[in-house]
Amino acid sequence: MQGALRVVKYLKNVSELSIMLSSKASRQLAIISLSFSSSSLSLKCLRSSPLLPPIFRYQKRSLVGTSSGRVSTLASPKCAASDPDQLKSARKDIKELLKTTFCHPILVRLGWHDAGTYNKNIEDWPQRGGANGSLRFEVELKHGANAGLVNALKLLQPIKDKYAGVTYADLFQLASATAIEEAGGPKIPMKYGRVDVSGPEECPEEGRLPDAGPPSPSSHLRDVFYRMGLNDKEIVALSGAHTLGRSRPDRSGWGKLETRYTKDGPGSPGGQSWTVQWLKFDNSYFKDIKERRDEDLLVLPTDAVLFEDSSFKEYAEKYAVNQDVFFKDYAEAHAKLSNLGAKFDPPEGLSIDDNPTTQGQPEKFVAAKYSTGKRELSDAMKQKIRAEYEGLGGSADKPLPTNYFLNIMIVIGVLALLTSLLGN
Ligand code: HEM
Repeated sequence: MQGALRVVKYLKNVSELSIMLSSKASRQLAIISLSFSSSSLSLKCLRSSPLLPPIFRYQKRSLVGTSSGRVSTLASPKCAASDPDQLKSARKDIKELLKTTFCHPILVRLGWHDAGTYNKNIEDWPQRGGANGSLRFEVELKHGANAGLVNALKLLQPIKDKYAGVTYADLFQLASATAIEEAGGPKIPMKYGRVDVSGPEECPEEGRLPDAGPPSPSSHLRDVFYRMGLNDKEIVALSGAHTLGRSRPDRSGWGKLETRYTKDGPGSPGGQSWTVQWLKFDNSYFKDIKERRDEDLLVLPTDAVLFEDSSFKEYAEKYAVNQDVFFKDYAEAHAKLSNLGAKFDPPEGLSIDDNPTTQGQPEKFVAAKYSTGKRELSDAMKQKIRAEYEGLGGSADKPLPTNYFLNIMIVIGVLALLTSLLGN
């Protein structure tokens, strides 16, 4: 009996000790073990820190041509991953840039054209193409499909110069996702840490992006987008990005010189838009290309086919009547597009959102977070316990009556058992 009581007392002490530990020492232990396991990570972050003297941050300079024919030098950091704090600051700067220049559409097109060269049938990076920052090089900017995109690069270059710890590949995708969100579109579940290609020889060959007027638009779209690993739903959802922006005859050759919706800007005037409010991200693209009532609004052959091909039509019809469905599918498809072909460091990528749970991913389990030690009971809980206590006959100043009869019966039973065991 004494032994059993000692065991119970010991167990009580152990549990009290573990509560104390969880509130104080275990947190210390967690910190120590974390600093050991993340030592390599800290070193890497230190290398990309703006606080470190520039001599430690090896910079590779690459030649890039501008539309004026002038060749400028662009700095690209040697460090593999981008720095999360610099990414956040860059996002703030992009928001400012959008407010003053209304360049949302061209930034979206820049991100798409960097990622859209991906070929899922090529395993090697960077030969497979995709979101790797190769679109900063003159050789790729000169591809016919990229006409005009040098202007987007020029807009972003000052931000790149300010944040050496952000790769071009990340900056292009950050700018695109921020532009969609700032234009009223859905929150895109983005991750960062894309590695940049280092030279123009690593750019993909011309011809991987879609044409607007191929002989068979539906099979052309499937050829190009299936090669990227995307499906019919994603083709239709992503085409919805044309709710923003304009087409200019002097760039792609498509569209009118100007319309009543574009002649006064904002931004540089001219071109033909797909929608009336071409700086607002909504589902009007699908409504407008379905109705085709306005001569001033553009419908490319690859837009028209979305309501002609039976598989594409299923999604286009849905998006025309339900903006929520469009936003959900668009956000998913855009995030997928932004990751195509990318090499991430760290391999799982990194988030720069304060609340990553809003991205539809489960919150990462952190043991220390749940070991916050002894907590004060809520008033409701205290009241519930008091009611139960009083229900059993106890009160604040009178201890609960012990059931002596039951206790005596248990003691007698145990003694009888022990006697019979010892007797045998
Ligand atoms: C489906 C195949 C696609 C074709 C054939 C196509 C074609 C075009 C063309 C011809 C232009 C006009 C460019 C100019 O003259 O400046 C354009 C602009 C644009 N495209 Fe696409 N596109 C396609 C898919 C996409 C996708 C997937 C996105 C984004 C996710 C996108 C986003 C944009 C944006 C935002 C603009 C407006 C750019 C500006 O106003 O400066 N496009 N596209």
